[in-house]
Amino acid sequence: MLRQALLAISKSRHAERLVTTSPLTADVVRRYVADDIGAAVAGLTRVGLLVSAAHLGEEVTERAQTERAVADYLALLDLLPPGADVSVKLTALGLRLSEQVAHDHAAAICRAAAAKDVTVTLDAEEHDTIAGLHSVHTALRRDHPDVGVVVQAYLPDSLERCEKLGGARVRLCKGAYTAPGAYRRASDIDLSFVRCLKILMAGTGYPMVATHDPRLLRIASTLAVLDGRDATGFEYQMLHGVRPDEQVRLAGLGSRVRVYVPYGSDWYAYLMRRLAERPGNLAFFLRSLASR
Ligand code: FDA
Repeated sequence: MLRQALLAISKSRHAERLVTTSPLTADVVRRYVADDIGAAVAGLTRVGLLVSAAHLGEEVTERAQTERAVADYLALLDLLPPGADVSVKLTALGLRLSEQVAHDHAAAICRAAAAKDVTVTLDAEEHDTIAGLHSVHTALRRDHPDVGVVVQAYLPDSLERCEKLGGARVRLCKGAYTAPGAYRRASDIDLSFVRCLKILMAGTGYPMVATHDPRLLRIASTLAVLDGRDATGFEYQMLHGVRPDEQVRLAGLGSRVRVYVPYGSDWYAYLMRRLAERPGNLAFFLRSLASR
């Protein structure tokens, strides 16, 4: 219920104005969003963590803004070490305008990233963008076979999607939005996550296990062993600001652990999704509204 309310608020321009102008939200924003991406990447790299950097922005409907998003990603690439990844939202690159616009912008980022030995992963967003996401991903893979894509386990067709994505880099997550027909009970989402994970671990692609859930992390490590994958055959991924000690602990055991690091001023919708996952943080949000 609270989660649904927060996700609805994440689309409200009025709430966005209230929240983004309140100084009281600064602490919670800082937890989830890097204020200096270069420093954040350097800090994570120093302790043996890999990064996937994401320039915040989504649901863009003006062509000029989509071009600015590409320019922001090209500038970001200059800050990243080889082996890094960038996470890209196709709605920031123009998916709401057309698949072709999003594809061409994403292809420009993929070309520049490849020249720097950086990979690109396409985030999964609202349910009505998922068909476009996979169509663009399929087209991009012709020239950029290592471009990755996110699968949301809360979608009932996620298993079929994983089966179709044989050989690809796939980031599996639970899903942070709402979707008609999506699994809502935690146990159903977890079961779907594990079924997808079995397909990905047994397949020929590169699984990226994006969760902080201790039980799913244990299952992933067991499946990796059963499927004969060593530490280089898959990776764990977690969000900046979420279970940082666990990120370092897993990396210390020799696992590949990548941290998704978002940055930029357009953080509102991202923050609301993080609050929706963890309503315990809601106090910050409510205090910021009450202060207006
Ligand atoms: P769950 O929500 O059950 O959390 C398990 C534990 O992790 C909690 O008990 C808590 O300790 C900690 N935790 C989780 N979220 C927290 C938070 N916000 N604040 C504090 N602690 C928290 N989704 C999507 O729809 N499209 C996408 O493209 C992506 N991309 C993506 C990339 C990466 C690298 C990650 C890790 C996640 C995503 N997600 C995503 C988000 C994902 O769908 C999901 O909403 C979150 O990861 C939370 O789910 P968990 O699997 O961590 O489990």
